[in-house]
Amino acid sequence: MPHQPRIEGLITRMTLEEKIGQLGAFADALRPFAFEVNPETFARDAEQVREQIRAGRVGALFNGVGAAEGREAQRIAVEESRLGIPLLLGADVIHGMRTVFPIPLGEAASFEPDLAERTARATAKEATAAGIHWTFAPMVDVARDQRWGRVAETSGEDVHLSCEFAAARVRGFQGGDLTAADSLLATPKHFAAYGAVSAGLDYNFVDLAPQTLRDVHLPPFKAAIDAGALTLMSSFNDINGVPASANRELLTDLLRGEWKFEGFVVSDYTSDLELIAHGYASDEADAAKKALTAGLDMSLQSGIYAGHVAALVERGEIPMAVVDEAVRRVLAVKAAIGLFDDPYRSLDAAREADPSHIAAHDALARDCARRSIVLLKNEDDVLPLKKSGQRIALIGPFGSDTAHLGGCWNIFGDAARMIDVETGLRSALDDAASLVVVPGCAIEEPVEGGLEAAVAAAREADVVVLALGEPHDYSGEAQSRTQIVLPAAQQALAEAVATTGTPVVVLLRNGRALALEGAVRDAQAILVTWFLGTQTGPAVADVLFGDYNPSARLPVSFPQDSGQQPYFYNHPATGRPNVPGTPRSFQARWREVAHAALYPFGHGLSYTRFDYGAPQLGTDKLGWNGTLTVRTRITNAGPRDGEDVAQLYLRDRTANRVRPVRELKRFAKVALAVGESREVEFALTRADFEFHGVDNRPVAEPGLFDLWVAPSSAVGDAVTFELLAS
Ligand code: NOJ
Repeated sequence: MPHQPRIEGLITRMTLEEKIGQLGAFADALRPFAFEVNPETFARDAEQVREQIRAGRVGALFNGVGAAEGREAQRIAVEESRLGIPLLLGADVIHGMRTVFPIPLGEAASFEPDLAERTARATAKEATAAGIHWTFAPMVDVARDQRWGRVAETSGEDVHLSCEFAAARVRGFQGGDLTAADSLLATPKHFAAYGAVSAGLDYNFVDLAPQTLRDVHLPPFKAAIDAGALTLMSSFNDINGVPASANRELLTDLLRGEWKFEGFVVSDYTSDLELIAHGYASDEADAAKKALTAGLDMSLQSGIYAGHVAALVERGEIPMAVVDEAVRRVLAVKAAIGLFDDPYRSLDAAREADPSHIAAHDALARDCARRSIVLLKNEDDVLPLKKSGQRIALIGPFGSDTAHLGGCWNIFGDAARMIDVETGLRSALDDAASLVVVPGCAIEEPVEGGLEAAVAAAREADVVVLALGEPHDYSGEAQSRTQIVLPAAQQALAEAVATTGTPVVVLLRNGRALALEGAVRDAQAILVTWFLGTQTGPAVADVLFGDYNPSARLPVSFPQDSGQQPYFYNHPATGRPNVPGTPRSFQARWREVAHAALYPFGHGLSYTRFDYGAPQLGTDKLGWNGTLTVRTRITNAGPRDGEDVAQLYLRDRTANRVRPVRELKRFAKVALAVGESREVEFALTRADFEFHGVDNRPVAEPGLFDLWVAPSSAVGDAVTFELLAS
């Protein structure tokens, strides 16, 4: 640690108040601020904030934006406070800054972590140009219940996919050199198990087997830390009765003890104060004591460290060593990103004003958006559409919508650059007059004469593109739903349009998997477009007209019915499995639907067809320390060049704890020209077979495993191998 002497020197000179100052982050009242993001901002006026920076009572500011204003805040910290410790300037920059990329769930559908690394890099460039050092991203929670509104911010329901995207985004935000002016410090969140909130209700309790915590919810954090993350955000929820923000087992024993994490943990917004509402702390002082001594280094916004830690230390209730250790961690991160050497890094107004990156970032946003679109079905090859000679009716409330393009975390996006679906389609068509546009209804309500106009337009058309979905505020924080269906007015619109018999292509806009019903489910083609951001229109046009052959796959299972939630493909095996095609008897299935997805994790079609050969194993008896090679030949047997996602799944046949029916272990996106055939190769070792056993320790057990290389989690023929004991 090259900065250690400087940090230790500072700690020796700091007063207790100055130390506590480093442990507090507050809303940035000095700059234009993203107020809508959190419930209240505990409004401090700008003068108060300046005064506190001067007094050394603030370690970090968050959610303000602007290089010049940030520079002024930093100047006060560096030149007017006694010790001149620079501020860390943070913000929620989640899926883009000025250029808005697809929501993280959509981007995960690309199954291309490299792409996520590139969009995170572009985001980092824009955010650091706007005077931000530190982002509260990536969110690496695993989302197994689609009722939860924050599914949109995740990489979906799978552990391996989440790990790959977590690591890629950390690499992308931070870049190769943490001290570079365009390096954005990442904060994997929310530590931990926020994705396991009961009933998908945001902020709800988490009752979780310790093994599931370790097998499912912790690995993406470990992957993010291994990729270089230096800060984490604690979560709002409790885990088995202990709130994560005061959870010593998690914040200290596991994170620092087992994982040797050297960075700091910031609370989620007031999650330390919320220990009182949880009934885990009696008052603010008790909450501050429990959180800080458990290992929560920095308090975000509540002010309870500023208000109570000094007295707690003076009364001997918190050892000074605990405060010093938290301060050491915060200062070490500031040093690691170069703030002591150049406190004005990333505070350059000229760079903020420079538009020269925009063309490249728009191109990346377009490519990322089209690579995120999932083709669920395409009966009779209704897609791709023709650019001329085909009358197209664009019907639905999202056809010309510009207010719901960005998604739930679009707070700093450049609204003027957002391109809606209609504009995208018109500029792609050879004859723009072949497109008619009819809203048909509002997002949540019918409009007078809407259905009649929609039906008339559908009758006149050769094909209908039906732009339906959720508004952006149906997903994100505090946006849990009980029924994950389309608003009734839109469903009615789809039913009315279907009566015309004109082929329908549904364009879904959504922040979670949906339970599709009636005419939407029965449409000839369905495209899942999530929230695609700045380049929505061009990306949708690329896919609709076949300029881009869709290659995305579902990162979450689309259930048949809302009541199946939580439904995820990698569920543990039951003792009465549902056997597809057999009559409903005493099997694990509902009266109404089978225990299966309508469209499973990993599913997604292309305008071409890929044929899979049987997986060839290097051996069917794998030695304990051996490497299993798996080769599968994939052939593009259809009419167009395209990209496929080969997915390798495993099942441990017998184990000391019930194992999932399938688990993704590897995937690879392969581009194949028409007629081209290629062998995809994977390698597995014992670490890939490990899980946490009855004693909650990692174990791999000798025995039989099933293995699939397949185009989704629900298809393919298994091959079997044995893991030997020696
Ligand atoms: C609360 C959210 O849970 C978290 O994700 C976000 O980073 C903070 N608010 C700060 O805005």
